[in-house]
Parts: sequence; C-alpha cells; structure tokens
Amino acid sequence: MTMTDLPTSKLNTNYASRRTFAIISHPDAGKTTLTEKLLLASGAIHLAGHVRARGERRRTRSDWMEIEQKRGISVTSSVMTFERDGVVFNLLDTPGHSDFSEDTYRTLSAVDAAVMVIDAAKGIEAQTRKLFEVCRLRDIPIITYINKIDREGLDPLELMDAISSGLALDLTPVTWPIGMGTDFRGVIDITRKQVLMPEGGRGGTQGQPIAFDDVSEIGAKTGIEDRILEPALEGLELASGLLPAFDLDSFREGHLSPVFFGSALKEFSVAQLLQGLGDWAPGPLPRAATTRTVTADESAVSGFVFKVQANMDPNHRDRVAFLRLCSGRFKRGMKLFNAREGKMMTIAAPIFFFAQERETVDEAVAGDIIGVPNHGTLRVGDTLTEGEKLTFEGIPSFAPEMLRRVMLDDPMKAKQLQKALNDMAEEGVTQVFKPMLGSQPIVGVVGPLQLDVLASRLVGEYGVPVRYETAPYVTARWVAGDKADVTRFLDLNRSSCGEDRDGALVFLARNAWALDQAIKDFPSLKFLAVRERS
Ligand code: G4P
Repeated sequence: MTMTDLPTSKLNTNYASRRTFAIISHPDAGKTTLTEKLLLASGAIHLAGHVRARGERRRTRSDWMEIEQKRGISVTSSVMTFERDGVVFNLLDTPGHSDFSEDTYRTLSAVDAAVMVIDAAKGIEAQTRKLFEVCRLRDIPIITYINKIDREGLDPLELMDAISSGLALDLTPVTWPIGMGTDFRGVIDITRKQVLMPEGGRGGTQGQPIAFDDVSEIGAKTGIEDRILEPALEGLELASGLLPAFDLDSFREGHLSPVFFGSALKEFSVAQLLQGLGDWAPGPLPRAATTRTVTADESAVSGFVFKVQANMDPNHRDRVAFLRLCSGRFKRGMKLFNAREGKMMTIAAPIFFFAQERETVDEAVAGDIIGVPNHGTLRVGDTLTEGEKLTFEGIPSFAPEMLRRVMLDDPMKAKQLQKALNDMAEEGVTQVFKPMLGSQPIVGVVGPLQLDVLASRLVGEYGVPVRYETAPYVTARWVAGDKADVTRFLDLNRSSCGEDRDGALVFLARNAWALDQAIKDFPSLKFLAVRERS
C-alpha cells in the first residue's frame, strides 16, 4: 500500500478532546509494556504483543534498524493515535536510551502532558530525572505511574516521599497497592471506592471492580488476609493525612502529580490511568511563537515539525515530517506556508498513525500529529501556517558533546556524503558542521550510539561507507552577538570555527579552557549551548 491509497480516518474533530502526551521513563521501567496495555485498554488493539510485533515488522523492513535489533533498544520516536469514549489520544513515543535525548527533548516540545513511569523497586532513576526536568521547563502536567507492584518493591509511602522530595513535586495517590511482590493482592481505586483484584486468582490480570463505601468493608468484601490488608490501609491513611488532595489547577500547572500504583504487565491501574488522562490532562495548550502566543481555538491552521523520519517505507524513498498542529482545522490538500523557506506547500497526502495502520487525514485539529510525506522540504523546527509569518519557539538543538571528522574511503563519494549528511541533519540524527578551514565535514552527536546509527544508515541507505576520526574539539557553541564583534572573533579563531547547516557560526572549542578563554576575551558575545531552530 502506498501513502496515497490509505483508508481515510474518521476521528472526531473537536480539538478540546485531544490529549497529546508522551511516556517518560528510565529504560526498563516498563514504557513499552504500558504503551501496549494502554492501546489494549482503549480498544485500539485487541491482543497484547502488538507493539513489539509491530516493531519487529518494522525492523525487518529497514536496514538501519538492525541496530535496534542488535542492541535491543528503540531509537526512533513514533506516534500512535487512538480514540476512546470521544477522547482522542495522541501518544508520542520517546526513545529511552540517553544517547537519543535530543530527539526525546524535541518530542517533548510537542506534547501537552506526560506520564512518568517509575519502577517500584528502583524509584527515580537518572533518565527519569532528566526527562522530568525537561517537562518542568515547560510546566507540562505529569501523571505518575509506579509500575511493577506485582514484584517486590519499595514501601509505597517511602517511594512517594522519595519521588516528591527528589523532584520537588507534590504527589497525591489515586490508586494504592494492597501488598507487593508475592503479597500482591490488588489495588484500591481511592476516588471510585473500588478494589481491583487479579482475575482468576494470584498472577492474573486486573479483574472486575469490587465496590465499597468505607475501607473498613474491604476485608469482608474481598477476603484479603489482615496481614496484608492492614498495613496497606495504614499506609493509605497516612498518605491521605500527609499528602495534598487532588487539585486540577495544581496538576495542570505542573505542581501536583496524581499517582497510580500499578502493574503494566498485569494491567493493573492501566484503564484508570487512561481515564485520568482523559479527565484531567489538558487539551492542546497555547504555544509561544516569535511574534505572539498561538491558542488552539484560533481558526487559522498552524503547527511545527518536531521530527523527520526518512525511509519509513524503503519502496518509496519518502520522508515523513511529523507536524504537531497548534491551531485551526486542517483539511487535506491545504496549502501551508513554510516561514523558513518563505514558500507555500500543498499538503496532499497527510497521514494519521494508528496503532495498527496508517490512514489518510481528511481533517485534523489542534493537538493532532500528522505525518507529511515530502522530499526534504520540511525540517525539524519548521513552522507551517496559513500565511502568517511566525515561528514556534522551544524546539532546541543541543551543543553536541562528541565531535568527529567524517572520513570517506572512496573520495569519489564526497557529493553523496554531503547530501546524506544533510539529510541526516534535517532528520535530526546528527548535527553537521563545515569547518572554516579544511574540507572534511564534522558531525556532532550527544552520545556514541548516534554515531553507529549514522554510519549504518550512510552505508545502508546511501551506499556511502565512512570512518570517523577524532576531531580535536570537545564541544561546539553557537556564537551570537554584535556583527563587528562576531567578525573580529572569527578572524582570530578561524581554525576553531565552523558553520552549521543554516550557516550559523559555531565555535569548535578544543578544550574547556579554550571555551572559557573565548568567553573572557569576548564578553559581548554569547556562546550558546542550545540553539532554537528559527
Ligand atoms: P521499557 O520500554 O521501559 O524499556 O520497558 P519494557 O516495557 O520493555 O519492560 C522491561 C521489562 O520489565 C520487561 O521484561 C517487561 O516484561 C517487564 N515489566 C514491565 N512491566 C512490568 C510489570 O508490571 N510487572 C513485571 N513483573 N514486569 C514488568 P523483560 O524480561 O526484559 O522482557 P520480556 O521478555 O518480558 O519482554
């Protein structure tokens, strides 16, 4: 099936019903499992195992995904849209590996809420904290899902205390575990006054709710032994006394996080989490742009590209730009204005990404993510509007922490290399710098795995084998300031300067001392570690 003969989608077109969110977690906390179970709970898929199965299929279709297979990690973000009870969920997947944090950060710029998955035995881990901080920068509301309570874990109250103090975030429990590990008997849904126990006995998945009016009835109604129930209820009572009650405003401002204790594997608190997202997470939020703030209720269409993925279908050397709509009602065939290029483009065959298939978009609204097939006209960070000249802010490029010279075995392939690197840079796989002196391009990445992906894709997709040589630089900084000062800086430091693909001046620092010295010598200039796309 090609991109043009996909079935068309019939989603409701009420923008307020959109919940666009990501799941953030440390690798292994259970993001993939939870994603799958959320799709299952929503009715988007009918059998567990689809997310992985789908991944496997995709992997076999594309050479460079060999790396995913070999390393057992996911390096690409994807989008999954599903509808339940009139709420349209757009789940943006983020790669968990820290080397791909740049991609993850950009994905987080496109969401309005996040689910933070924490392993009950481990508490906050490094990657959770990093991603949480990114969400906090934008005050994104966060729902916490404490996973794997069917295994031995830390005491629930201690866990909440550690998360709350570790992240300086207020927490309030929504579901509470009755025992953990071998003592796990189920969860209490506090607001709905229900107990959820494993179906068919221990080890089962979440069964039908058992209602109660007062917690004192739970023992008699469920038959759970006192030895396990009593400490659970004591913990809950303490938590209720110590922790704030749920408050929607406080949640939406990013100060208070509702907490679900659950087991993704056994489907505990998954349907509850989905309900919570539908009820509490905000619809599409206002977005800051260069000239003004854009709100979801505006009639004119606007959106920005947060990801470009190439060769999703090797039969068609296509690229798909993932466009997050921020306002208006998009219709297929619309002409939109790309401020960077100063050109209009027709969006002829936009795609929705559902769990099991892609469908053609007839209409989409703020909050939606649509795929726009193109041949390289759209880049990460591009803004599309109906004509207004504005650019959405907050889609960052980070200063790379590893810089390498790209060496060709076959010098005849210099042109292909240039094109391939340019494509990879547009996709956000790497940053590419052209040194002021010398001809070998320099690539900059956040982590070493990104270099492997790059080399593998250059061979697999462009037939260009490359080697890397260590470049004598430790980091890159974008240089900004008064034009005369920038020129003076460039004249004195030509051998340590380069340009990024937009022609912006970059200082390639040989060591930390050189960077310090440059900052001291040129106090009027800024040496930026993050550059926002313009
Ligand atoms: P990730 O995407 O965050 O990296 O985590 P993923 O869902 O892949 O889960 C990591 C491991 O934790 C998997 O086990 C998964 O089955 C397990 N897991 C996830 N949620 C739960 C849970 O609620 N309870 C328990 N007991 N385990 C859970 P694995 O052995 O690494 O993989 P697999 O062979 O089971 O697929």
